[in-house]
Amino acid sequence: MVTGQRHVPTLSVIRQALRHVQGDIRWDEPLAPYTSLQVGGPADVLVFPADVEDVIHAVQGARFYHLPLMVLGGTNVVIRDKGVRGIVMHLKQLSKVYEEKTNRVYAQAGVRLPRLMQFSLGWKLSGMEWAAGIPGTVGGGVAMNAGTRLGEMQDVLEAVDFVTIHGRRKRIEASTLSFLYRKTMLPKGIVVGAWMQLRSSAKDTIHAATSQYLQYRKATQPLTLPNAGSVFQNPPGDSAGRLVEAAGLKGVRIGDAEVSVKHANFIVNRGAATAEHILLLVRKVRERVARKFGVRLILEWKVVGER
Ligand code: EPU
Repeated sequence: MVTGQRHVPTLSVIRQALRHVQGDIRWDEPLAPYTSLQVGGPADVLVFPADVEDVIHAVQGARFYHLPLMVLGGTNVVIRDKGVRGIVMHLKQLSKVYEEKTNRVYAQAGVRLPRLMQFSLGWKLSGMEWAAGIPGTVGGGVAMNAGTRLGEMQDVLEAVDFVTIHGRRKRIEASTLSFLYRKTMLPKGIVVGAWMQLRSSAKDTIHAATSQYLQYRKATQPLTLPNAGSVFQNPPGDSAGRLVEAAGLKGVRIGDAEVSVKHANFIVNRGAATAEHILLLVRKVRERVARKFGVRLILEWKVVGER
C-alpha cells in the first residue's frame, strides 16, 4: 500500500487523480483473473501504467486526492471477495530487461522472474537460478526478498529503482537495505525496477541447476492447480508442510479451497473457491497446528481488500 484507505472514493475523484496517466485504465475490474489463486472481487479501478512516468503520475494523483493505491503482483496474495477500493496498479507493461554492462542486468518491475532467469541463461549469467520456479515478478521479488533453497533476491540485488510516496524516482543501493526472511525493509513506495549483479558461467551448468530444481518442484508441489505458493513461512528449524501434514490436514476442504494432498503448505482452488473459503481454511490450519504442536504459523501471503 502506498496510501492508507481513508474514505470510499468516488469515481469522479479517481478519474481526476488519474488524468495524466497514459496507460490502460479499467473500471470495476474483477481481480480474480489477475491472481494465481483465481479469487477476489473487483478493483474500483485497475491501472496498467505504460511506463515509470505513468507510475509517478498515479502516485502523485493518489496522494493529492488521498486515495488508497496498491500494486498487484498477483502471486502471493489473497484478494478478498468484495474487492479493493481505490486504485490498483498492475505493472505488466514495465517489462524491459537488458544487460546494462558486463554481468549487470536491469529488469523492470513487471518482468516475470522465470523470464529474467531465461534471459540470464541466454547471456550465460549465473545467480538467478533460484528464480526459475517462482511465478512472481521482479517488483514483488524485490519487495519480499523472494527465494528458494537455491538462493534469494538479496544474493544478487545491487540496487532498486524506486518511486517514493511523494512520486519521486530514486535509486536505492542494496547495501543500505536490510533483508529478512521473505521481506525487504524498503521505504513506502513502489519498486519499478532492479539492478542485479550476476556472474558469467557456462550455460550447461546454469541449465542443469535450474532443470533439476524445476523437476523437484513439479514432483512435490501442486503446480497444475491455482495456488499462491507456500501458505506459511517455515518456522525456525522446522517446515510448515511437515507440521500441517502431521496435524492430519492434507486434503481438508472448505468449499473448493483444499489443503493440497501433494504438499500440505499449499492451498489450492479446486474450481469455485472464494477468498472467504480460503481464509477460513487458513484459520483452521493455524488453529489445528497451534493446538497440536504449539506452533503459531505465520502467513506468507498478503491479504487485501474488503470482506
Ligand atoms: N513436507 C512434508 N509434508 C508436505 C510437504 C513437505 O512433510 O506435505 C516436508 C518435506 O518432506 C521436506 C520439508 O517438509 O522435508 C520441506 O519441504 P519442501 O522441500 O517442499 O520445501 P518447503 O520448505 O515446503 C520451500 C519454499 C518453497 C520452495 C521450496 C523448494 C518456503 C515457505 N517455501 O518449501 O517456496 O519452492 O522450498 O525450494 O520457504 C514459496 O515460497 O511460495 C515457495 C513455493
